[in-house]
Amino acid sequence: MAWRCYRATSRFTWKIHANFRESFISTILFVCLLFPFTTEAGLYTASDQVVVLTPDNVDSVLVNSTAALVVEFYASWCGHCIAFSPVWKSLASDIKEWKPAVDVAAIDCANQDNGPICSRFGVRGYPTLKFFHAYSKPDSKGEGFRGFPRNVRGLRHKIINKMETHAEPWPPACPPLETASRAELDNFFETNSVGHLALLFETSNSYVGRELTLDLLQYENIAVRRVLSTEDGLVAKLNVTDFPSCYLYSPSGIFTRLHVQLEARTFYTYALQRLPGVVRAGKPLPVTSDLAKNTTEDQLRPFNRSRVYMADLESTLHYSLRMELAAHPVIKGEALSALQRYISVLAKYFPGRPVVNNLLKSVDTWLKGEKDTELSYSSLRDALDNTAEVPNAALPKGVRWVGCQGSKPHFRRYPCGMWTLFHVLTVQAEEAADKDPQEVLQAMRSYIHSFFGCQACATHFENMAQESMSHVGTLSSAVLWLWSHHNHVNNRLAGALSEDPHFPKIQWPSPELCPSCHGVKNGEHTWNQEELLTFLRSHFSSEHLLSDYLEEEAQLLSRQKERLVTRHQEQEAKRGAERRARQTQDTSVKPPPEEEEEVAKEEPAEEEAERAGGKVQMSEPPPWVKPKADVSHQPQRRPSIVGLKFRPPQEEIVDLDAFINQHYKALRAAARVSSRVKLRTLQKKEQPGAGLEQGPVLLLGMQPVEPEDLLGQHNMLQKRILTGKYTGSEEEGALEMYPHPNKRRWMSLLSVGFSRLDISLCVLLYFLSSMCLLAMYLFFKNCRRLRRAKVALP
Ligand SMILES: Cc1cc2nc3c(=O)[nH]c(=O)nc-3n(C[C@H](O)[C@H](O)[C@H](O)COP(=O)(O)OP(=O)(O)OC[C@H]3O[C@@H](n4cnc5c(N)ncnc54)[C@H](O)[C@@H]3O)c2cc1C
Ligand SMILES: *[C@@H]1O[C@H](CO)[C@@H](O)[C@H](O)[C@H]1NC(C)=O
Ligand SMILES: *[C@@H]1O[C@H](CO)[C@@H](O)[C@H](O)[C@H]1NC(C)=O
Ligand SMILES: *[C@@H]1O[C@H](CO)[C@@H](O)[C@H](O)[C@H]1NC(C)=O
Repeated sequence: MAWRCYRATSRFTWKIHANFRESFISTILFVCLLFPFTTEAGLYTASDQVVVLTPDNVDSVLVNSTAALVVEFYASWCGHCIAFSPVWKSLASDIKEWKPAVDVAAIDCANQDNGPICSRFGVRGYPTLKFFHAYSKPDSKGEGFRGFPRNVRGLRHKIINKMETHAEPWPPACPPLETASRAELDNFFETNSVGHLALLFETSNSYVGRELTLDLLQYENIAVRRVLSTEDGLVAKLNVTDFPSCYLYSPSGIFTRLHVQLEARTFYTYALQRLPGVVRAGKPLPVTSDLAKNTTEDQLRPFNRSRVYMADLESTLHYSLRMELAAHPVIKGEALSALQRYISVLAKYFPGRPVVNNLLKSVDTWLKGEKDTELSYSSLRDALDNTAEVPNAALPKGVRWVGCQGSKPHFRRYPCGMWTLFHVLTVQAEEAADKDPQEVLQAMRSYIHSFFGCQACATHFENMAQESMSHVGTLSSAVLWLWSHHNHVNNRLAGALSEDPHFPKIQWPSPELCPSCHGVKNGEHTWNQEELLTFLRSHFSSEHLLSDYLEEEAQLLSRQKERLVTRHQEQEAKRGAERRARQTQDTSVKPPPEEEEEVAKEEPAEEEAERAGGKVQMSEPPPWVKPKADVSHQPQRRPSIVGLKFRPPQEEIVDLDAFINQHYKALRAAARVSSRVKLRTLQKKEQPGAGLEQGPVLLLGMQPVEPEDLLGQHNMLQKRILTGKYTGSEEEGALEMYPHPNKRRWMSLLSVGFSRLDISLCVLLYFLSSMCLLAMYLFFKNCRRLRRAKVALP
């Protein structure tokens, strides 16, 4: 498992190279550790909270386990099993908190490899349920569940009955399930060091107390006991009249009634999990309990947990567009259409400030006009940085998480922002009453699929989407689809290492946040969809977004302006320096830094900004404001061969020998640099036709080129083709908003390996030789005429 995980992680890390924040990678690592890519067999998968048994794991899971197990033996072809599988999945989700005490498993007996296991346990009909005690012996055949109920509630009760009669040794993680007596409670805090004792008063046939005990077994600082209505002393002392009802008993000896909206299991669970000091004990690794003890919340920016912040949405845009997409130097095919859809829904529905909306719209217009099949990320970045200077448009640089802050840097943040963004967009689309109900969901799906850095997440999400996204037929069901599938993910991740102990994964919204969303039917919790929809519409509505911690628009624009000015100045300075360098006739040409290298270098700067952004208070100028690496993305800074092209015209009269000499050196240097870069970048695919265009360059070199150099040339040519394409579409008028990109790039496409100087020299020579021929022709013609005249005269 660890090995597989390592492999997946390293592939991921490799792919995104230096562009990702370290903390995000560590989150992924956690995620990966939690979701080893188990073989998906039969009716259940790893994301169902059901342990899928195979010949490889059956002994390690069933024999001598510290938790009891309930196993379903089924055959994937059996209709009853197929009909029963949703119940089994729901049961597994419903009692997922009980895992350390009792876990849910399944095995497909129709799978040939599993056949021997099923016969070893004496299974003949399907589905068969068996209960295995904790610390089962290798020869244990388990206890059958005869005539088991076909619903979650009945099964849950049956499991509790089994647990209560569990023989010694008792599963160590399982708290006592018997009723508490007054005598036991009187000195409870002398023997237990917890902050809260929850007493659930109920009748003897009620299971709520025991269910609640198990629901909270993974939580620290709280214990739950059931007290029967027949425990007269306590009932009279507290004047308990409702059964069930819940009272909190604190070490100071005070009893208080726990107020819940409805007296039912789910409401108690929500309420108890949210008590102060109560946190999940993070069973899988001690790291989490460490975190749990250290309350870092006071270091966070103050915010209201029941609200949505624009700062999170803008941070998500920055991270997604400037960091996540930057990992894709070339965007084409499926990814390009994913990007177009994503930008398109952002332009349509993002409820942003005018500046941000203007920018999104300008990027969308530009992208829609792009007729090419490929897009280089650098051109997208220029659009995002507004190099075209579209008035009153900017996308804030850097991140500033507010509602998505985590208690540690590797918690929450970007994925939290991503969910929030898409909830907001589905709600906005509904408000706009657009006609395509799937537009936003499909845009999210393709973005996640093509770009979302967490690949395991993307796979899980794609599986969910394949299952049911196509059934979404109305805009409001799109809102609900995302809500319910987000909850599905929350359910799967509750207690995972990636869960922030201070922001437990709950089935959202909690009863405090939306009381009317919750209901109870036959003692079981239900969601009230109508109320839920009303709640979601208001929670994620644009009027409800809070604008705290946002950088002012005017400031934003002036910062952007500054950056652009600095960028221009640095370009000028750069060109000036180059000119001066050449004027000193220094023939030792040093290759200026390569563009690809700068992409890699830039990210740490952003990363710093982001990290600092997490701490810096608003009064200080945010660090990402400093115009750092922006200047560097200009094509002018590409080395030598291209650089030569951009020489100012007045310098084009050069001594030919010196020129060839210099040119050749530059070529070699460039080749070496780019072949080095090649190793580090991900560009693998051959550009069709690039090979053909090597010819002129080689001729220009006028000397044999080493294989290494060939590779380098090739790479450079690819780059140039890309740029050529970009400029090509500018020509078509699509880029009118972005007139900046250098017109001179056309030259680079046309002349391939020739510089402008080369061409002028050619033309000049051609012209001179024609003139020479003409002169000779005229001269001889004249001579003949003269001679003829002489002959005729006498
Ligand atoms: C598409 C996608 C797939 C992911 N898959 C995985 C995965 O497979 N494994 C993994 O470890 N992590 C996955 N993640 C990350 C994970 O879901 C969380 O985003 C991350 O752990 C941060 O959690 P959080 O506590 O900030 O809450 P999040 O789940 O990120 O939720 C953010 C906020 O949205 C609100 N919210 C919560 N639930 C709902 C809901 N049902 N409807 C509407 N609003 C809600 C809450 O206010 C919450 O604080 C995925 C993220 C995304 C975007
Ligand atoms: C079963 O596990 C316990 C501890 O978990 C261990 O002490 C014991 O030796 C194990 N027994 C067998 C047969 O593996
Ligand atoms: C809690 O965190 C703070 C700041 O991160 C640290 O200084 C302190 O030592 C931590 N306390 C414990 C008990 O880990
Ligand atoms: C947080 O927002 C909710 C919902 O708008 C509001 O009722 C509550 O008073 C706010 N809390 C604080 C501390 O501002």
